[in-house]
Amino acid sequence: MSKHTATLIDNETGEQFELDILHPSQGPKAIDVTSLYRETGILAYDPGFMSTASCWSDITYLDGNKGLLEYRGYPIQELAEQGSYMETCYLLLNGELPNAEQLHEFTDRVVHHTMLHEQIKRFYSGFRRDAHPMATMVGVVGALSAFYHEYMDIHDPENRYETAILLIAKMPTIAAWSYRYANGTPFVYPDNALGYAENFLHMMFALPTEDYTSDPRMVRALEVILITHADHEQNASTSTVRLAGSSEVNPFAAISAGIASLWGPAHGGANEAVVRMLMDIRDSGKPLIHFLEKAKDKAQKFRLMGFGHRVYKNYDPRAKILRELCHDIIDKSPLAEEHHELLDIAMKLEAVAMEDDYFISRKLYPNVDFYSGIIFLSMGIPLNMFTVMFAMARTVGWVAHWHEMMGDDKSRIARPRQLYTGKTHREYPPIDERD
Ligand code: SDX
Repeated sequence: MSKHTATLIDNETGEQFELDILHPSQGPKAIDVTSLYRETGILAYDPGFMSTASCWSDITYLDGNKGLLEYRGYPIQELAEQGSYMETCYLLLNGELPNAEQLHEFTDRVVHHTMLHEQIKRFYSGFRRDAHPMATMVGVVGALSAFYHEYMDIHDPENRYETAILLIAKMPTIAAWSYRYANGTPFVYPDNALGYAENFLHMMFALPTEDYTSDPRMVRALEVILITHADHEQNASTSTVRLAGSSEVNPFAAISAGIASLWGPAHGGANEAVVRMLMDIRDSGKPLIHFLEKAKDKAQKFRLMGFGHRVYKNYDPRAKILRELCHDIIDKSPLAEEHHELLDIAMKLEAVAMEDDYFISRKLYPNVDFYSGIIFLSMGIPLNMFTVMFAMARTVGWVAHWHEMMGDDKSRIARPRQLYTGKTHREYPPIDERD
């Protein structure tokens, strides 16, 4: 990357400091403040990292103004329309699309790691039946750190790659078993004759009492969901995985931290929150404008879930893909009438928000979570499993970023500083001299 400099002038002292300007292959340039504190004694302040690049990365590129998303340079629209999730996993991990032989070998490697250690089953029975499946997933994925020690040389690229294969392979089984445990049906083992998406639906919905075959349209819809959710540069959960992983912790524990971060309604938990909001709107009998005004009233602490994004100040390209997918599969759902009603509310809510100055001026567009929940409902996935689906898809992104970070010999433990606003120095008073 080419370099030039910026000059920082401290008007309080008149001191001047030259700082390098860094140029990535595409996207905004950056002021390199790595040595700012060491050379000037001055910290940079950026809570929420609104203007901070935390790393160099080759994996995913977003252009928030253009509404553009590329995995290793390939547009998300083309990958979603023409590709498969296994192909996307290979691309994110290796940097190039696989040829037929590479895809077969990669898929075969994943397929032969889909089972869980039989003792893992006991972790599920430790949870209350009504435990949120995300709580189960955080716990079970974290527990994998107790099972895989042979891959713990995280400085060996092949060990890291094998760890990535394990995580990608086992997440559908962990996710499906979270659902099965919650509804009291027996665990269904993976079937290696099925593709990745079909295998997940099989483990979710097959019953020992009858034959089960997935609807091919639902299988394809799940592939598109998995591809569009696979990675998204330095979002909160990926940054969590990078920060946790920077201490050189067991990777399964780092991924478990990412799952926890994704669960929040401000992040991946929004897909569940969107459908709950649409159902509330439906059941309230109130006009959409009531909810729009409520979202604009800061005193109400209410937001239109599925709207807004830290990076996209244009339509999230994934939301466009998923909105079309809603229309493609909603009629396949046994509850099509109810789901059509929710989709109708969502489309009307989008239309009125897109004409409202509050949303236009703040560039609040529908994001990936706005339509995904309606697709999950059409697939028969229950509300509390929506973020589990997101976590299953995003695992490849998390582990690809972890693999990239651990392969960078300049990476170091992430340790931000703070601006202290507490009490200044004072002497310790004996207890009988205190107020
Ligand atoms: C994901 O980072 C990623 O890449 C995430 C993700 C991924 O793939 O990993 O894309 C997935 O997490 C998508 C986002 C899902 N979350 C939601 O849909 C929850 C609702 N949206 C927001 O809470 C919010 O928009 C965020 C969290 C997504 C972004 O928050 P920011 O960038 O910190 O923006 P902000 O909270 O500072 O909002 C800016 C303004 C504020 O108003 P003012 O103070 O300027 O008056 O916009 C308002 C906010 O009040 N605002 C909203 C709003 N989102 C922002 N007002 C009403 N409804 C909303 N949804």
